[in-house]
Amino acid sequence: MITFGPISALPPLQKLGIGSALINHTKKLAAEMGYRAIVIFGNPAYYHRFGFMSAESFGITTADEVNFEAFMAMELYAGALSGMSGKFYSDNPWSDQCFAAAPENGYRLRADQSYEKACRGDGI
Ligand SMILES: CC(C)(COP(=O)(O)OP(=O)(O)OC[C@H]1O[C@@H](n2cnc3c(N)ncnc32)[C@H](O)[C@@H]1OP(=O)(O)O)[C@@H](O)C(=O)NCCC(=O)NCCS
Repeated sequence: MITFGPISALPPLQKLGIGSALINHTKKLAAEMGYRAIVIFGNPAYYHRFGFMSAESFGITTADEVNFEAFMAMELYAGALSGMSGKFYSDNPWSDQCFAAAPENGYRLRADQSYEKACRGDGI
């Protein structure tokens, strides 16, 4: 299984399909990479439209053995999670990925609301 997120689009660019494109592209990549399923923590009102369902419906709990609406999963092919259940443990997800673009992490907000650096791997 793989997880990703959170995703975001700058406020002036929301509702233009960017979030949908990011999610659909990521689903395609994850399937091509051979993953069975995606687990995500997010707003159910948004993610349900992409096929995410409560992780509880697959018998998956968080590592702390809890379930809540914002904890979701989706199969990348029919039956991918059949017979699988248990606790979801995440690797350190931010170790080699884009990191929170925030001033405390060394990023500077530009006047146009974009950030100076997109990834921690860019040299900070
Ligand atoms: C959530 C977010 C990434 C969506 O990106 P986007 O490019 O605006 O989304 P899209 O254009 O692909 O989709 C727009 C649709 O999603 C809906 N939508 C957007 N944000 C939503 C939310 N938080 N809850 C429910 N629906 C939401 C819109 O109402 C719109 O619905 P419609 O197609 O029925 O009109 C963006 O609104 C955002 O950056 N929000 C702030 C950050 C955030 O909350 N990220 C975490 C998501 S868990």
